[in-house]
Amino acid sequence: MEKQLQTILDEATVRLSELRSRPEFEQYKAALAGPNGSFTAVTKSIATLPKEERPLAGKLINGYKVQLEQLFQSTLQRLEQEELQRQVGPAVDVTLPFPGMGPGSVHLITQVREEICSILRKIGFTVADGPEVETEYYCFDALNTPQDHPARDLQDTYYLNPLASFGNVSRKADERYLLRTHTSSVQIRTMLEQQPPVRIIAPGRCFRRDTADATHSANFHQIEALYVDRNVTVKDLKADLDYLFRSLLGADAVTRFRPHYFSYTEPSFEVDFKSKHLGKVGSEWMEIMGCGMVDPAVFEEVGYDPNVWSGYAFGLGIERIAMTLYGVDDIRYLYQNDLRLHRQFI
Ligand code: DAH
Repeated sequence: MEKQLQTILDEATVRLSELRSRPEFEQYKAALAGPNGSFTAVTKSIATLPKEERPLAGKLINGYKVQLEQLFQSTLQRLEQEELQRQVGPAVDVTLPFPGMGPGSVHLITQVREEICSILRKIGFTVADGPEVETEYYCFDALNTPQDHPARDLQDTYYLNPLASFGNVSRKADERYLLRTHTSSVQIRTMLEQQPPVRIIAPGRCFRRDTADATHSANFHQIEALYVDRNVTVKDLKADLDYLFRSLLGADAVTRFRPHYFSYTEPSFEVDFKSKHLGKVGSEWMEIMGCGMVDPAVFEEVGYDPNVWSGYAFGLGIERIAMTLYGVDDIRYLYQNDLRLHRQFI
């Protein structure tokens, strides 16, 4: 028996070192240690031995089994290493000079954000900023969005650890921190710091608990606008939006207002646009933003007199505009850092 086992082990040592792939390895291993394998056959033959010889034979077999398993193990490691090497290619010579990366480009979202901001700067808007980690007050309460409003639902909002503290974003004791669900919070931050008239835009990142698909992402970008002055009317809102969309999408772009509800504007609208200039994508009405006239309750909250001041506000999604303008049909492409997408828009 010992001779048989030794022969199997010697053969295996040679054969295993010659193997070049995982399937070959699995096949050979089965031929030795599988149910009908040669090693298994020797193991089984123990039953035919006289009783008193079995313990010794068992010990012997176990010793060979351990050696065989070690051989399998080291062969498998070698094959995996070789496979990895094949995938990675030849070793990199780190002493070679850097080939350079060529010119970079600005990300599509940044391009579109800059474009919209520069169009709006021309009619007097300045850029305002606010934190991505917000408190419920700026994101909801001050925007006339009460505690039981669905926008605060745990399902579509990211609340943060109540014990954490976030730099200089202060909050009341019973208030929660969250990742802002919209840039509208910057309206409140601005009005609390500044007296009217106000004319600001606030570009930035927002977050919602959305399941990612071709048109939804848990992380997206908006541009908020707020204009407060004496005698601001819906006419100003419509005229400024027409100006924005014509500048952005071409002279034949048209907008359509649909009545809607937002708790911080009254009346409120959703705006659709279309533009022949954009070909097939531009031939259907496409929803692009929410807007309306600032609700007097919001003015009262920030200490502006609603009898003196009036204003409009809007918030638009940057991704949707970028996708429409550049024919990107899945929002996820914008976040995947695949250079094949970005090289097209240098
Ligand atoms: N905050 C809204 C959203 O995220 C968009 C919006 C609607 C902004 C109306 C506004 C507004 O400023 O007046 O869906």
